[in-house]
Amino acid sequence: MLNSEIVRADFKIFNESSNKKLPIYFDNASMSLKPVQVVEVMNDYYFNHPTAAGRSSYKLATLTASKIKEVRRRVANFINANSESEIIFVRNTTEAINLLAHSMKFEAGDVILTTDKEHNSNLVPWQILVEKKGVEHKIVRSKNDGTFDLESYKELVKGVKLVSMVHTSNLDGTTITAKEIIKIAHDNGALVLLDAAQSAPHQKIDVRDLDVDFLAFSGHKMLGPTGTGVLYGKSNLLEKLEPFMVGGGSVEYSTYTEYKMLPAPEKFEAGLQDYAGIIGLGEAIKYLETLGFDNIKEQELKLNRYITDELNKIKEIRIIGPADPSLRAGIISFYVDGVDMHQFALLLDEMSGVMIRSGQHCVHSWFNDKKIKNSARISLYFYNTMEEAEILVSSLIKIMKII
Ligand code: ALA
Repeated sequence: MLNSEIVRADFKIFNESSNKKLPIYFDNASMSLKPVQVVEVMNDYYFNHPTAAGRSSYKLATLTASKIKEVRRRVANFINANSESEIIFVRNTTEAINLLAHSMKFEAGDVILTTDKEHNSNLVPWQILVEKKGVEHKIVRSKNDGTFDLESYKELVKGVKLVSMVHTSNLDGTTITAKEIIKIAHDNGALVLLDAAQSAPHQKIDVRDLDVDFLAFSGHKMLGPTGTGVLYGKSNLLEKLEPFMVGGGSVEYSTYTEYKMLPAPEKFEAGLQDYAGIIGLGEAIKYLETLGFDNIKEQELKLNRYITDELNKIKEIRIIGPADPSLRAGIISFYVDGVDMHQFALLLDEMSGVMIRSGQHCVHSWFNDKKIKNSARISLYFYNTMEEAEILVSSLIKIMKII
């Protein structure tokens, strides 16, 4: 079990000595807070060895190179990849998905299959391929309670080239049964990209057990620095991809007329990288591993159960997705008919300093389809406490009386 007091001591934002009100932060699906350990290793890089990796041979540069190598190994272990060469550092999940969309060969008639709850980063890159290359984009509609429709998927996956799906939805917190879905895709000759932006921070991901072909996730939602993320790909598949961005660090040599590309991951990492960010990401992973995903999940579920029970007592509030909080990870997305949920979230911040996200959460397509204006989304992480959840609920009750 987590000791909240000990954990929260690592987050400076909760430990301000001034009299100002401490923040109550429930927007973790967008961005997590950062523990001091992550910031310290980044400072160490900037203060003590702010050098580029893989270029120069002096000691400070090789120190940076060895730290980056160490993080690549740590990330590979974190998701149980076969090899660290399967780990490509990118800026975020969005870049990881775009990298694949631009590096894999698609032609007219190829079919890409997604769910109906993809955020724009796992929707628009495919829509552009529809426009530019004539590929076909198909969508598996969720069941009424927001859970995955396996029967419909089994039909739609036939003849598909790439299944690209959100693992845990940032809209309603539902998690798809990835292993089963991937097996069915492979049986039908399709490759699978899993968007793990919302799952990697909250649950153990084992790419070998899942047998997933590509996996994308962001560092900034899992205690890491902004501008960090990972694309995992099976070695044999990465070999076949052609990088869309090339330059220094991605080629073994060049002449005036030719070049020789380096193997993965370097061929996808052209130009100087965010070394401080990558080192910070490594520390974030270390922190999560020390904490343990069982502890993280337990705390999130405890708070989700309490908040869900309390919200269910308010008849005007509609929670998006399954009624059972254990099927919604750390997310409670809700709306009130006729109410602009931006106003709702603003009031909450004004009244009690409680921060939640409001809007369409980059899943405009789902809201437009359902003709729902927007929602307010509470998204939890392990450092949130019951006391914070109680303040949230009592503030929600007050707002419901005045709107
Ligand atoms: N997709 C991110 C979110 O859900 C930004 O907040």
